[in-house]
Parts: sequence; C-alpha cells; structure tokens
Amino acid sequence: MFAAAALQSDSKSGQYAELAEQARGLLHGERDRIANAANFSALVWHALPDINWCGFYFFDGEELVVGPFQGRPACVRIALGRGVCGTAAVRRETQLVEDVDAFDGHIACDSASKSEIVVPLYDGDRLVGVWDVDSPRLARFDADDRAGMEALCAIFLESIA
Ligand code: SME
Repeated sequence: MFAAAALQSDSKSGQYAELAEQARGLLHGERDRIANAANFSALVWHALPDINWCGFYFFDGEELVVGPFQGRPACVRIALGRGVCGTAAVRRETQLVEDVDAFDGHIACDSASKSEIVVPLYDGDRLVGVWDVDSPRLARFDADDRAGMEALCAIFLESIA
C-alpha cells in the first residue's frame, strides 16, 4: 500500500521533487486514466498548502469535461478557449493567474478561489485535457509551482501513455 510521506524539503522546488517521486511511486504499474487521475489529485490535495480545488478536465473531442478532483463540486463542461482552463488548452501553455478577478473570462466555480494555475495536458499534438489548481490566496502560485506542476503532469501523462 502506498503511503505519502509529508514533504521534508525547505525549498519549494525540493518539495516538488519529493512530490514527483511520490507521484511516480503512486502511479507506477497502472495505466487507467481515471484511477491515476483520482490518486494524483488526492496526492496533490493532501501535500500542498493553501489550495481549495485541484483536479482534471478531460477533452472529450469537443470540450473539456470535469474528471477526478478534490474540493467543492465544479462546473462540468468548459468550451475550448473559455476560462483559464479553455485558454490553457488552446494556447498549449500553462496559465498562471495571480488574481482570477483580473483574468478576462475566468469561470468561477468556487467563489473562494483567488488565484489559479492550469497546465495543458498534451500527448504530442493530441489534447488530453488540463490540470487545474485553485487557491483561496492571491498570487499563491509562482514560477516554482509552474515548473513543479508541469513536472508532475509529465509523470501523469507518462503513466497513461
Ligand atoms: N476557474 C476555471 C474553471 C474550473 S474551476 O476553477 C474548478 C476556469 O476559469 O477555467
């Protein structure tokens, strides 16, 4: 049985390296997308401070549909190009939003969310979905979070390839 240890490192990048190691162990040997997305969300949810939602939206061929997540119930479908999630999917680059109220078109699922990071998930040219994390704190996410989340998402994508 996998047991996630509390993160020990003093630096954020060190903590993400530890979390990446835990994610590798957790997803190892399993390729089911729902199973791995569910465990991945739970791992991050319990490891990171100051977050109120984390989870997946998967592309169904037309739009983004909510997948496994932790936090309050969320909007189910997001059109490509809409909100932070749809923008990340279309631009193919991580969206780091310090203040969601200042992001034109932000979709508010939980009014507690103040900042957000969304990583697009691509398998080559194929859009798989996005990984979305919200925080009740303004400017909760920085360049370390971007690098750390992108590394974690690469581990998730590898696990389901
Ligand atoms: N805020 C997102 C919608 C998803 S929720 O945050 C879970 C967006 O603007 O795309």
